[in-house]
Amino acid sequence: MKILVTGGCGFIGSHTVVDLLNEGYEVIIVDNLVNSKIDVLDKIKKITNKSVKFYQYDLCDYTKLDSLFKEEEIDAVIHFAGLKAVSESVEKPLMYYENNLYSTINLLKCMMKYNVKKIVFSSSATVYGSPKSLPIYEDFPLSTTNPYGTTKLMIENILTDLYKADNSFDITILRYFNPIGAHKSGLLGEDPNGIPNNLMPYIVKVATHELPILSIFGDDYDTVDGTGVRDFIHVCDLSYGHVLALKNKKEGLKIYNLGTGQGTSVLELVKMFEKVNNVEVNYKIVGRRDGDIASCYASNKKAQEELGFKPKYNLEDMCRDSYNFVKSNR
Ligand code: NAD
Ligand code: UD1
Repeated sequence: MKILVTGGCGFIGSHTVVDLLNEGYEVIIVDNLVNSKIDVLDKIKKITNKSVKFYQYDLCDYTKLDSLFKEEEIDAVIHFAGLKAVSESVEKPLMYYENNLYSTINLLKCMMKYNVKKIVFSSSATVYGSPKSLPIYEDFPLSTTNPYGTTKLMIENILTDLYKADNSFDITILRYFNPIGAHKSGLLGEDPNGIPNNLMPYIVKVATHELPILSIFGDDYDTVDGTGVRDFIHVCDLSYGHVLALKNKKEGLKIYNLGTGQGTSVLELVKMFEKVNNVEVNYKIVGRRDGDIASCYASNKKAQEELGFKPKYNLEDMCRDSYNFVKSNR
């Protein structure tokens, strides 16, 4: 089976490509490298001993994408490609709407034209806005607070409408919680340029002394220790969820949360990171960050029951692997 992976050089995409190759799928990657590097392809080969075909195309370029679909006989698509920085999306909303929506519409048009009807889409827990209770179930009300999140919700709506118009489509929407960790080889992981927005990349940069101190945004939430609570999931558990989604016998439009179902506070994560890696992470408590919610964690019951999704890595693994990746690549 030939799988087109959009954004396959990125953080989650690259881990998923490794799983797909290990499971015997043929993989084609399309990525414009706006937020990734070409050497990921060599690293994937080093880990799996298998090669992938790569197209350095922007999905917003319909002509190029059409030529790819003409050239390759694609059986299914996993669609990771997109811009994902919340604060940047607030500053540059048009860039986010243009990139994330045009690319998806082009992709879906090509899929229609070449009769490729199976797609797995990367959505986010951000579509739940501020949840009414915890854990979060898939049928909770949806709302967003920033342009990035709105693109995710708009794409979910586009996919839903497409399915209503043509129910031969087989669509899986995966709502990720907070992926961290890295491949155990130390070859693949997340190492954003500049100052990271997300917690784990920031912790790692403080531990390696690239940044002086972590600011913890608020210690007055109604949580175990006052700091925010999130559902951190190892990227390798998350990536394997995509293989399960491809293998799922259930047809139609399906939506699954991919999280562990466990809430961990920011401070708990910092402490675990220090303990597992035997390093100090300097931190200070500052005011809350705009748009943050107190707690967010999934019910992954539906993914467990219908996909057989069962995370196998714990918080220690996530902390160890995140640090190992960055140390190995310095
Ligand atoms: P990433 O930035 O590492 O990977 C995305 C990849 O898409 C990059 O390699 C980038 O170069 C590529 N890309 C972006 N726009 C493109 C375009 N127009 N044409 C071709 N390639 C393009 O991000 P990630 O963390 O691997 O996330 C993958 C997907 O999962 C994204 O859609 C993201 O919004 C979603 N998601 C991520 C998280 C997270 O915490 N990482 C959480 C929820 C959802
Ligand atoms: C963020 C995005 C979300 C997106 C997800 C993955 C916001 C409001 N939400 O989720 O839409 O899907 O990333 O890309 O940006 N924290 C600190 N100090 C830091 C960084 C973070 O204390 O320097 C805290 C935050 O306040 C939060 C927790 O750590 O409580 C997790 O933050 P982060 O990693 O940015 O993820 P989310 O905010 O959950």
